[in-house]
Amino acid sequence: MAKQTTGTIGILTAGGDCPGLNAVIRGVAKAAMHYGLKVVGIQDGFRGLVENRTTPIDNKLVSGILTQGGTFLGSSRDRPHKMKVNGRTVDLTAEAVKTYHKLKLDCLVCLGGNGTQKSAWRLHERGGINVLTLPKTIDNDVAGTDITFGFDSAMAIATEAIDRLHTTATSHQRVIVCEVMGHDAGWLCLGSGIAGGADVILIPEIPYDLEIVAQHLLRRRRAGKRFSIIAVAEGIISQQEARARASAQHSSGGTAEAGGVPGAVYHGIHLVQEPVASRLARQLQQLAGLEARVTSLGHVQRGGTPTAFDRLLCTRLGTKAGELLAKKQYNIMVALKSNECVPVPLQKVVGIKRVVPVDHPWIKTARLVETCLGDEE
Ligand code: F6P
Repeated sequence: MAKQTTGTIGILTAGGDCPGLNAVIRGVAKAAMHYGLKVVGIQDGFRGLVENRTTPIDNKLVSGILTQGGTFLGSSRDRPHKMKVNGRTVDLTAEAVKTYHKLKLDCLVCLGGNGTQKSAWRLHERGGINVLTLPKTIDNDVAGTDITFGFDSAMAIATEAIDRLHTTATSHQRVIVCEVMGHDAGWLCLGSGIAGGADVILIPEIPYDLEIVAQHLLRRRRAGKRFSIIAVAEGIISQQEARARASAQHSSGGTAEAGGVPGAVYHGIHLVQEPVASRLARQLQQLAGLEARVTSLGHVQRGGTPTAFDRLLCTRLGTKAGELLAKKQYNIMVALKSNECVPVPLQKVVGIKRVVPVDHPWIKTARLVETCLGDEE
């Protein structure tokens, strides 16, 4: 065993969970311990940091968790500078920093998506503590990395769902609308839609025209196709909504809120879902008399065991993080770039949402297999 260093790291998981979190905790902890670092687990994300709720991590605790879904540390969407306490929102950054020092940490390792990257950076900037992050989310929308962990597992679940919908849709000659998560990014819907052979794929990055979607479905029916599967991302917007949003933005001098899901209810920082699939099904019925059934995959996409790809990715990213921590490289995110695990400066990641570029090769791929993306090509 190569024990080259001393020190203590804290580790927490924040934001929405996904398959692979335990695999990353295991990777970071095992590698860090290999190099001689002590590891402390922090419960329920940044809330546990503020409230000093911790658990020591040893080899036994992280043994056998590689394949387990969720996070054994617990997670929350809390942010230190905007904590809800007794119905009030308070800045508890100082409490978070106090716990860091009380635990004598050399670095705080944060596993999370865009919100977590921001919170970690804020703690570094305002609290002067060392942080290291890892890119987690089924949405695949973290900048600075080619992929986030959890995405592949969620894509496999959504793809299997689309496969299953195909068989029942064929039996009954039906149109089925399947809603896929992803927040404001279309990666999950596009990836699973292509892999599952969806006939229409609607993503937030390409505002859709309902008439174009309806005509595509009617053409398929006339051609004798017994089924049509529509994969929709939860963040889709129509062309009409996109125009209204752009003009609101223009008239407010660019201050109007961009992004967001029409009809969605915002609760704190995160939206509470209202199935856009139902809205689309109703509109298709009204416009073209197409009867459509609806399936909203919801949190099933975040549950269960990670795929082999994610287990490998999580173990690679986690152990790389352990190695960098032993070298005292802080204030970075460990990313996958061109199949290499590399550190990227955290400030280059925060505040940037990586959505699907409209010229992305997956878009071209989808169009070449005659998938309708809801726009004029
Ligand atoms: O960010 C991951 C994600 O699953 C999004 O795809 C989705 O919009 C959101 O979280 C759901 O959040 P919650 O679990 O808080 O309902």
